[in-house]
This record gives sequence, C-alpha cells and structure tokens, in this order.
Amino acid sequence: MKELFVANHPVGVESRVEEVIQLLKDQQQENPLLLGIWGMGGSGKTTIAKAVYNKIFREFEGRCFLLNIREVWDQDNGILHLQQQLLSAIYKTTKIKIENTESGKSILERRLGQKRILLVLDDVDKLEQLNSLAASQPCPKEEFASLANEVASYCERLPLALEKKLKISFDGLSDDRNREIFLDVAFFFIGMDKNDVTDILNGCGHSAEIGINVLMERCLITVDTKGKLGMHGLLRDMGREIIRESLPMKPEERSRLWNSDEVLNVLSKDMVRISSMFSNSYNNNDIL
Ligand SMILES: Nc1ncnc2c1ncn2[C@@H]1O[C@H](COP(=O)(O)OP(=O)(O)O)[C@@H](O)[C@H]1O
Ligand SMILES: [Mg+2]
Repeated sequence: MKELFVANHPVGVESRVEEVIQLLKDQQQENPLLLGIWGMGGSGKTTIAKAVYNKIFREFEGRCFLLNIREVWDQDNGILHLQQQLLSAIYKTTKIKIENTESGKSILERRLGQKRILLVLDDVDKLEQLNSLAASQPCPKEEFASLANEVASYCERLPLALEKKLKISFDGLSDDRNREIFLDVAFFFIGMDKNDVTDILNGCGHSAEIGINVLMERCLITVDTKGKLGMHGLLRDMGREIIRESLPMKPEERSRLWNSDEVLNVLSKDMVRISSMFSNSYNNNDIL
C-alpha cells in the first residue's frame, strides 16, 4: 500500500484533513457517499485530497486516486484510459479489459458496487467525467455547498501565491469575452453591486449575465449575500498584472489602468496633448 506525496512544506494541512474526515463521518449513513471539494486553482484542493486519502485508504477494500482528470480527459482515449486505470487499481489486475467507454461505464457501475472503495477524482470539471467514472453516486447538493463554502474560505488564508497555478484558472476560460469581464472586475468592480456591474458590462456590449455566472462557477469571482462582487486578492493582483505585463513600459496604451501614479501620469500627458491640440486649433481659428 502506497501513500501519496502531499506537499514539500505542508502548512495547516492536518486541521483541514481532520475537518474533511469529520464531514465523511457525519455523512457515513449515505451509501455511496460523495464529497466534493470546490475552489479556485492553486488553493490546495488536491493537496488536501491526497492527505485525506493517505489517512483513510487502509479502511477500504479497494482504493484509487485518479490525478489530473481534466488534462487526461482531453487526450486520445483519455476516458478509456481513466476507466481502465480505475478498474485495475480497484481489482489489482490488468486482465479485465474495457473495450469502449460505454461498456466501461457499465462494468465500473457493476464492479465498483461490489466492494467498499475509496475513489478520489482529482480536477474534475465536467459532469460527464463523474458519469463515466462514478456513475451510480448521488450528488448531495447541500453538503456539497456547505463544504464548498468552507473550502472557499480557506483559500483566502492559504499562502499560495503561485501565480502559475492561479493563471491556469484564468487561462481555462475558453471565451475571450469572459476573460475581459474577469479583468474588468479585477480592475474596477470589486465591491460593487452585481446588478449595476451587469448593466455597465451589458452597455459595453458584453453578455454579462452569462459571463458573470461562468466566472462564479469557476470561483474566479464571488457574490456575497448583499449582491456585492468579490474576488480573491491573489486573483485580483494576477488580473492587474496580466494587463501591466502586456505593455510594461507603455501605460498609456494599456487597456486598463489601476495604479494611481500611472493614472495621473497618463492623464497629465494626455492633458498636455489635449491643451496643445486646443491651442493649435485656437490659433488656427478652427474652433470658436
Ligand atoms: N497546505 C499547504 N501547505 C503547503 N503547500 C501547499 C498547501 N496546499 C497546497 N500547497 C502547494 O500549493 C500548490 C497548489 O496546490 P494544489 O493542491 O495543487 O491546488 P489545487 O488542487 O487546488 O489546484 C502545490 O504546489 C502544493 O504543493
Ligand atoms: Mg488540483
């Protein structure tokens, strides 16, 4: 039996692991029991899942930790590969062959139900992935939501300034218009009323309701009980940095400005330009 590597310098993992294990104990009458961890990229979901796995896997007849499902899913035969990996891990044999993904679903449904197993699906981003790998598990929405809130609140406290990881969440937005909305929120709209922001963005030609919902689903923005938009501090800084980096030496050409010194600088340069245009025009009698 092998333990998984958790993290180089774990900080505060143990208390979260205990909390997840307590949640599992509280729900153990549910059979099968499904627990979801939801949060932005880099917040430590996989790390906690690995630590939980290490702590409890010995209590199960079969066990499997499938890493990076989102990534493997998109590869050739990725689904089949994951199904086969799961079956081999639980039954400790490579003899049972899965011919195609549909038969894989029914083999897994039948076989997995025969044992008490621990299955961790890491980095799931589509319902179809759950259906193909863990078809018969119910989705306890309320429990999911309460855990999700807890995980989200951990995010702000974990020192994970891993821009690389954070940017995966941003890069994962397939629609450029949603990236633009994310950047607008990062620069201008944190703390503002969601409806007001929706009106402003719609006025700029965006489909703001859809865009804001996509960003919320991906934990890139939040809306509090009063309807105010929020964003994790690290994500906000990342968004602002993306724009700064695009034209580091030319703030006047960037799509958005935030730093007050740069704003003043650009505006004063523009004021000089406008006043010189004005004086030229005035001298030429083009205006008045
Ligand atoms: N509690 C922690 N202590 C130390 N490092 C952590 C902790 N949680 C996560 N990390 C590190 O942060 C990075 C991102 O964590 P990860 O669990 O992969 O995030 P997620 O799965 O939410 O995208 C990893 O390099 C991981 O080792
Ligand atoms: Mg992960």
